Amino acid sequence: MDNLADKKWWKEAVVYQVYPRSFKDSNGDGIGDIRGIISKLEYIKSLGVDVVWLNPIFKSPNADNGYDISDYRDIMDEFGTMKDFDELLNGLHQRGIKLILDLVVNHSSDEHEWFKRSRGSRNNTYRDYYHWWEAERGKPPYRWSVFDVNSNAWQYDAASDAYYLHYFAVKQPDLKWENPKLRQEIYDMMHFWFRKGIDGFRMDVISVISKDPAWPVITKDILDKYYNGFWPSYYAKGPNIHEYLQEMNREVLSKYDVMTVAEGWGVTKDDVLKFVDAERKELDMLYHFEGMQLRHLPVQNGILPDPKYDLVAFKDIYTKWDTLFSEKGWGTIYLGNHDQSRMVSRWGNDDPGWRELSSKMLSTFLLTMRGTVYYYAGDELGMTSIKFDSIEDYRDIDTINNYQRILSESGDVIAFLEEQKIYSRDNGRTPFQWDDTIHAGFTSGKPWLKINPDYIRINAATEEHDENSVLNYFRKLVQLRRQNKTLVYGKYRLLDKENSKAYTYIREDTNKKFLIALNFSSATVTIYLDVPILEAQLLLSNYSDTRKSLIETGKLELRPYESVIYEIQLR
Ligand code: GLC
Ligand code: CA
Repeated sequence: MDNLADKKWWKEAVVYQVYPRSFKDSNGDGIGDIRGIISKLEYIKSLGVDVVWLNPIFKSPNADNGYDISDYRDIMDEFGTMKDFDELLNGLHQRGIKLILDLVVNHSSDEHEWFKRSRGSRNNTYRDYYHWWEAERGKPPYRWSVFDVNSNAWQYDAASDAYYLHYFAVKQPDLKWENPKLRQEIYDMMHFWFRKGIDGFRMDVISVISKDPAWPVITKDILDKYYNGFWPSYYAKGPNIHEYLQEMNREVLSKYDVMTVAEGWGVTKDDVLKFVDAERKELDMLYHFEGMQLRHLPVQNGILPDPKYDLVAFKDIYTKWDTLFSEKGWGTIYLGNHDQSRMVSRWGNDDPGWRELSSKMLSTFLLTMRGTVYYYAGDELGMTSIKFDSIEDYRDIDTINNYQRILSESGDVIAFLEEQKIYSRDNGRTPFQWDDTIHAGFTSGKPWLKINPDYIRINAATEEHDENSVLNYFRKLVQLRRQNKTLVYGKYRLLDKENSKAYTYIREDTNKKFLIALNFSSATVTIYLDVPILEAQLLLSNYSDTRKSLIETGKLELRPYESVIYEIQLR
């Protein structure tokens, strides 16, 4: 099917992700909350975005900042009340903005009523809501856990002399989707939120909800041979995953005009269409991790390569994923979220001399690619990673528990801390920088996580008044995409593939053609265009002055981190 013929509001959407804990605190306890978000609705509207995605706001003891839910139908104490939520939803809808929530149903909190009962005895009605392995069967076959200090996903529980499964933290027991009663509970809960009027769900690690109840032994050899040595790839191949998603679609999703996006943990290119091919009636789209898994290149002769990662590999990943969805399904595009460090620090250059240019360049990439755009709050200001020196500063269970694990294995914690400066999730979670007053205007109290001291320079108030700020450039990009659906649906064609510093591509349909060229490095680069251009009009550039026509020269010279969008006519 031609994607062009199949237009949908959620394909055209720019989704703005708000991490509630870090967006705006309304009552001085140092934690962002719903009333804080309500107070910033005009700001969100001013961005021109179509959808807000809120990270979990449900009741939670916060072992993993809300990804451990103890009541799916109530609001976290720190964030406010259901009344606040209703007001937020209303406020967004009044402004023409949709709202999607996080659906976290691979696991619950161990403080959820279901789990409290489940662990109480071997023969209660909730026992089968979770995965148990009775101790008399011996040790359960090893499963890896992301956050566990021993990397072990089985936790012994004395109350019923059995082990329970937790792919994430000890306080996040995995729900047993194999039990139809559990599935009904989840569907009922989804109806509850849809009836309130929300517009969709971002589905947390939904790819791994199906487990193999035979619990086969997975050796390192098996893992290496069939799953690239990567546990999530095994987890994402649960035997009944598609049956469950089709059932969920039938029973819930098909009844509303809503959007769904899967967090595609462990999902490979070979499998993605099974999740998002519209004809299969499962989910609308999925976001993959392949781009995010690109690591920094090693320092050579004391010099960090420029860009710091392999841009040819980067282009290859985004090109291949685009091709996958050119006929079926639909893609997503993002460079940051609450599980990643800041976009500009990770993919651009946060050195004060390059920060603004490279932020704008990266936003240009996101807003001119095919697929639904997911944009993380704070990136529109060019916020940077905080890069903590000390473990004491971290709040994230991922960093803290892995630090403990490495310490207990007598591993190199110094190297680990250095690495966390580049990759830790807390880099992306420091509070939003509203202005240059104390605590960046985020809170009047003590912030739950340190605020990046660069807020004095980098903040919304300062950027609001600067016509050329990163913020105002983002707004222009959003408008440009809104006015040119070619940028949403049009074909994508990579040019100058082997260029290791610049990313150049064409977006086109029968109406229009755009040439987008992005310099990912701090050097000047020349791009030899292998297409004959008849006419070219520069629509947007992150440098303010004009430049030589590309028609005369047939080549494009890009200054450091320069990004340009041309509307072109090919000969
Ligand atoms: C997803 C979330 C992450 C969370 C994990 C466990 O990856 O994005 O923040 O820690 O799932 O729920
Ligand atoms: Ca608060």
